[in-house]
Amino acid sequence: MQWRFVQALAFLSFQLMVVVGGQAPKAIRSVECYDFKEERWHQVAELPSRRCRAGMVYMAGLVFAVGGFNGSLRVRTVDSYDPVKDQWTSVANMRDRRSTLGAAVLNGLLYAVGGFDGSTGLSSVEAYNIKSNEWFHVAPMNTRRSSVGVGVVGGLLYAVGGYDGASRQCLSTVECYNATTNEWTYIAEMSTRRSGAGVGVLNNLLYAVGGHDGPLVRKSVEVYDPSTNTWRQVADMNMCRRNAGVCAVNGLLYVVGGDDGSCNLASVEYYNPTTDKWTVVSSCMSTGRSYAGVTVIDKPL
Ligand SMILES: *[C@@H]1O[C@H](CO)[C@@H](O)[C@H](O)[C@H]1NC(C)=O
Ligand SMILES: *[C@@H]1O[C@H](CO)[C@@H](O)[C@H](O)[C@H]1NC(C)=O
Repeated sequence: MQWRFVQALAFLSFQLMVVVGGQAPKAIRSVECYDFKEERWHQVAELPSRRCRAGMVYMAGLVFAVGGFNGSLRVRTVDSYDPVKDQWTSVANMRDRRSTLGAAVLNGLLYAVGGFDGSTGLSSVEAYNIKSNEWFHVAPMNTRRSSVGVGVVGGLLYAVGGYDGASRQCLSTVECYNATTNEWTYIAEMSTRRSGAGVGVLNNLLYAVGGHDGPLVRKSVEVYDPSTNTWRQVADMNMCRRNAGVCAVNGLLYVVGGDDGSCNLASVEYYNPTTDKWTVVSSCMSTGRSYAGVTVIDKPL
């Protein structure tokens, strides 16, 4: 018990949660970090330009802010943040303009999945090779998905819910991508339609957190087990949230900001799968933000 406690502390002290841009209520440049050990937020270098509804990943020691909306246009630009230098740099543009996309790392490549280009929802998917600094298209999804959430479990990339511009409905369908076969395959549907759900991975399970179906913003959460191809409901969050950021740290699933249908939220809560309970973090972000990018990084020493 004592050893586990010491291990947990050692782990916590080296991780930071980074929250990038977002809508507050307009697209902002602000970037803030949460230090799990100090239990407080601090500001770091701002984005080079305003960005919300972007995809966010941590790869090769860098944070990548992918596409999004700059207050007037859906963009194909990508900025990367070096936590050691506290500096942002632009890298190669995506092929397509995308906001409300999903972004994830699979087999060392950064994937940008679906989203919205300003006129339609996208089924297209592209991947970024950091060595060649190039984006290339891979097989598109079976469905157009804006406000899609993505996660990687067991070497497969999952695209969860979203909004299908064609049928004008929020989606309960989910599909997964196998990079070896370059194919998307439908898996079991969620119990409910979710657009703008937060998606995260904890203990090889895929979580779909909140989101909305039309005007109804959800506080419900469900979890997918790839080994059984089934979804099950877990405890509700304390607040209704859509367009929140999600990340997993030290066996807990954190959900950051978002909006409840009328207000942008500055609060953060986390889920403990052992107790099936959500707890609100006592320290809020400096500002309410929805559609921010959230990822966990190693703390620069
Ligand atoms: C948004 O991006 C476009 C294209 O890169 C640029 O021309 C425009 O100035 C940007 N708008 C804002 C508000 O940054
Ligand atoms: C991808 O598909 C191939 C061929 O069906 C299969 O052998 C492989 O296990 C799949 N990959 C994953 C990660 O499931």
